[in-house]
Amino acid sequence: MRDLPEDLHERLRRWGQLHLLHGWERLSGVERAGLIRQLTELPWEELVSLATRTSTSKKAWDYETLEPPPVSPAATTAEERTVGQATLAQGRVALLVVAGGQGTRLGRDEPKGLFPIGPLSGASLFQIHAEKVLALSRRYQRPLLWLIMTSPATDAATRAFFEQHGYFGLKQDQIRFFQQATVPVLCAQSHRLLLESPGRLLLSPNGHGGTLTALAEHGLLDELESQGIDHIFYFQVDNPLVRIGDAGFLGRHVLHQADVSSKVVWKHHPQEKVGVFAVQQGRCILVEYSDLPLEVAQQQTSTGRLRFAAGNPAIHIFRRDFLQRLITHGQLPYHLAHKVAPYYDPILNQQVVPASPNALKFERFIFDALPHARRWLLVETPREEEFAPLKNAEGPDSPTTVRQAILALHRRWVESCGVQVEGNPAVEISPLLAMDAEELAQRLPSGYRLSGPLYLRPPLSGIRLR
Ligand code: UTP
Repeated sequence: MRDLPEDLHERLRRWGQLHLLHGWERLSGVERAGLIRQLTELPWEELVSLATRTSTSKKAWDYETLEPPPVSPAATTAEERTVGQATLAQGRVALLVVAGGQGTRLGRDEPKGLFPIGPLSGASLFQIHAEKVLALSRRYQRPLLWLIMTSPATDAATRAFFEQHGYFGLKQDQIRFFQQATVPVLCAQSHRLLLESPGRLLLSPNGHGGTLTALAEHGLLDELESQGIDHIFYFQVDNPLVRIGDAGFLGRHVLHQADVSSKVVWKHHPQEKVGVFAVQQGRCILVEYSDLPLEVAQQQTSTGRLRFAAGNPAIHIFRRDFLQRLITHGQLPYHLAHKVAPYYDPILNQQVVPASPNALKFERFIFDALPHARRWLLVETPREEEFAPLKNAEGPDSPTTVRQAILALHRRWVESCGVQVEGNPAVEISPLLAMDAEELAQRLPSGYRLSGPLYLRPPLSGIRLR
């Protein structure tokens, strides 16, 4: 075959991947070179061992020895808040958002961070997060470093969006965009590599656990170390309620000398699709909802509460040196997901859009770092104050529920400040005005009245809506 190295042909034959060469003659020189490069760079041994593990992909925790973890209360002490504030003011914390996912369930073409989630403002998820980073930077009088993980699919659109919006008032050099790696997608039945288009392998991002290697490969852990940054505040792009840089949480993490600290929301019912924290042999682990047998999920305490109820809203603080230690000891494991993946069939020479799951995707999960932590901490947070993820186009965790959660939270803040509210107006608050009820109370003039739907942002005259 023209241009095809003999040893590559032999490897494809050995691994049962000769289908990739169908239509080889139809490919242009550039397409051939591209495919040869992709195939040459593939970690073949790893892929084959992954594919053969498909039947045993379920994590078999020993449920007999699994214990509910200790969870510390949400209310923080003055000492914790002071320590957290000092850590932020000294610039020892970087903020990190993972925004590389494919957002399959939401079903939009653009990155999820661009979604206009603000109920009155129409602000995007990125804008809401960026305003929090800006507000924190103002509060602590230093430009806090913000790491934004993208994937090859979301990177260009994300960068362009920030540029188009003037980086939402942030300094461009306080932001680091960095891309996570991708992994080939396999046909679930045959374990053959799938193609995206003629001459291009179908690739998908390697999961939020890909953050660790991406941080290291892009030299960011070294940069953090050289800047004296000891802690990384990790959150997901799809949760607009997250209290980025929460000083009380950070202070407790620092005082406890934890390698990792994670927030906890209480699970509502046994079948709720949220992973739960548990303890096994002194280590903190996260059991995915799909791995937790129903009889274990249903177990109750003597007071009638769910025994395994410590749900994971994916808000963590990692010590930088803990992540550095982890990376030198290897990679987080891959999990397999059976998903729908449209692909190009080189034999039929056409695109295929499957109706049911056809593909195996490989993802690393950030919470697999937890069992490696020698010291760890779990801290309760009220769900309605901090967790409203945007996952689906409709139903639970959809734009409707997320907007309701934002409005309900901001309405509570306004009421707690003693504002006179006439009727039942919708109110949304920009993080630039206030990031919590206490800050709002300081910002609102006394006797402030609210009568119509209002997006409150500085300057306080606000934008009164119809
Ligand atoms: P999810 O697992 O909910 O995935 O990601 P998703 O891409 O948002 O949505 P689905 O599952 O395809 O519908 C949780 C968080 O992790 C990030 C996402 O951007 C989101 O903030 N993530 C996920 C990555 O950064 N990279 C990945 O490879 C996967």
